[in-house]
This record gives sequence, C-alpha cells and structure tokens, in this order.
Amino acid sequence: MPLPTAVKIVEVGPRDGLQNEKEFVPTATKIELVNRLSAAGFPNIEAASFVSPRWVPQMADGADVMAGIERRAGAIYSVLTPNLRGFEGALAARADEIVIFGAASEAFSQKNINCSIAESIERFAPVAQAAKEHGLRIRGSVSCSLGCPYQGEVSVGSVVDVVERFAALGCDEIDIADTIGVGTARRVRDVFEAVTKVFPRERLSGHFHDTYGQALANIYAALEEGIAIFHASVAGLGGCPYAKGATGNVATEDVLYLMNGLGIHTGVDLNQVVAAGDFISNAIGRQNVSRAGKALLAKTRAEAACA
Ligand code: HMG
Ligand code: MG
Repeated sequence: MPLPTAVKIVEVGPRDGLQNEKEFVPTATKIELVNRLSAAGFPNIEAASFVSPRWVPQMADGADVMAGIERRAGAIYSVLTPNLRGFEGALAARADEIVIFGAASEAFSQKNINCSIAESIERFAPVAQAAKEHGLRIRGSVSCSLGCPYQGEVSVGSVVDVVERFAALGCDEIDIADTIGVGTARRVRDVFEAVTKVFPRERLSGHFHDTYGQALANIYAALEEGIAIFHASVAGLGGCPYAKGATGNVATEDVLYLMNGLGIHTGVDLNQVVAAGDFISNAIGRQNVSRAGKALLAKTRAEAACA
C-alpha cells in the first residue's frame, strides 16, 4: 500500500506527557504549553483529563487549563472522560472531543479504571450517547494493544474485540495504543491488518509509547498499513501512572522529522515544536528525550554562537 501523503499528528504531551509528573505542574505552565502547541499548528491537542484527582492528581486542574487556553480556529481540543462525571466536566469546559479509554487486557482495565473490560463498555455507553447528543466527537483508546504490563501477551483477537465494541458506541476515531512500548513492527502490521477489517482505516490511529525504542519503526509499519493518524508527545514527555516503568510517547519532534523527510504533510511547524519541547523540559526540570529536538536545538545554538 502506498504511504499516505498527509497525516494528522495528535499532540498528547499536555495530557499523556504531564499526567505522570510527580511534582504538580502549575496550571499556567500547562496553559502556556498548550498555547505554544496550538501556535505550532497541531490540528488536534489532547489538553486535559477529567478523571478522579485521587487517581491522577496531576490532571486535577483540567477545567482551569481548558478555560485558560487560547484556541486556534479549527483545532480539536480533546480531554479524557472515564465516566459521566468526566463528561460533564468536558462539556462545561467546551472540549471538542472526549476520549473514552479502555484496554485490550483485563488486568490493565482493572488497574487503570477499576473495572473489567465489559463493565468499562457499559460505563462508556451513556458517555458516548451524551457526547453524540451534544455534538462532541468521540475517540476510543485501546490500551495494551501490543502487550500488557500485568498479563504480558495480548491477542490480536482481544484488540479487535474492543475495537468492535468502541465502533458500536459510535466512536469517530479509535487509537491502537502501545501503552508500554513493547510492540515491534511485524506485530503492529498484524494488529492494524486485523482491526482495519472492522473499523475504517482512515479513522484509526497509532499511539505508541517509546519504552523499547520501537515507536518510529512502529509508526513506519503503520504507515505501510495506510494509517494516517499518530499520537506523539512533545520532548517525549510522559508515561501512564498505571503502567510502571513505561516511558513517554514517541517524541513529536522525531515524528515530524520523519514525516518531513518522507515528504508527508503534517501542517505542523517543527521549529516551533522544538522550542515548545525546550520550554516544557526546562519548566518542569526534565530531560528532553527527543533526539531530533536535541539535535536541532544544538544546531541552532551552534549557529548562534558562530554568528
Ligand atoms: P473508582 O475509585 O472505581 O470510582 O475510580 P468512584 O466512582 O468510587 O470514584 C472515586 C473518587 O473519584 C470519588 O471521590 C469520585 O467522586 C471521584 P471521593 O468520593 O472518593 O472523594 N471521581 C471523579 N472525580 C473527578 N472526575 C471524575 C471522577 N470520577 C470519579 N470523572 C475511575 C474509577 C474511572 C474514576 C478512576 O479509576 C479514574 O479516574 N481512573 C483514571 C485513570 C487515568 O486517568 N489513567 C491515565 C489515563 S489512561 C492512559 O494514559 C492510557 C492512554 O494514554 C493510552 C495508552 O497509552 O494506553 C490513553
Ligand atoms: Mg498513552
């Protein structure tokens, strides 16, 4: 299959990237990060979560973040909503898209949202219905699609099963998420080959964490399957609080560098993302793990020193 000529990059740094930070990141810093990312041209930013603050304290200020950001016309601002209470928060915050998040692994579902896969679908049904009634987009995220930190192997069949259930709830988009970054390219192709039989290819996305350094290879494998939506986190920030040891998503700067090299249109300005990655890494005192981001920063600084 020819590679797509354009892809949508969903920037998840403000949510997936920051949710696992131990020190509370000030709301103003979160707002500035989203604003910088909006200015860089992302068509979709995952800006906050409306989850239990007891479960994820870092995301407790979602309403304030959503109230404080400047929204770029046409961009989609998404938030995570595990239940109706979260949905009400999302609606009040004028989110464009809600994300219901389940798992292809029973063990992870219990650890992350405290219920079985079947119970999670029952809980998501009224959330999805309410979103439809209010004209909000719905995205479904399938954690552990390529492996689980608790149960290990996850069958392709279990991923297909959850994708079918999310499709039945009316999801506009469905994420195949490698929560702990264990997947490799062959398996990625197998999973996408299977799920594209039950959900439209153009509405499936790849959400790859980079724990084992496979994310860019996995993105390329997904591109070869015709997938054209990818999630990435600026400066490679992040990890899931309920997947110990898992590192952040693939760094956005690295994905943009790859897409630019392949001549695949993203509409996002790499230099502005590099600057945003430098900003947030400094603001929270965390090492920038984007290889392309660090290389481009070093190049700019070297050029400035010579000038
Ligand atoms: P629970 O403890 O079973 O439910 O949690 P509960 O109804 O008993 O609620 C517990 C407390 O939270 C109560 O407060 C509720 O009122 C409150 P208390 O009475 O104890 O003071 N509460 C809420 N507060 C604010 N907003 C809400 C909300 N709901 C309940 N929406 C629950 C069940 C689902 C709520 C909990 O497990 C939860 O919030 N989990 C979220 C976990 C999470 O955010 N994980 C990270 C995001 S997923 C991810 O990173 C993966 C992804 O990136 C893809 C991938 O990489 O795999 C998307
Ligand atoms: Mg994630």
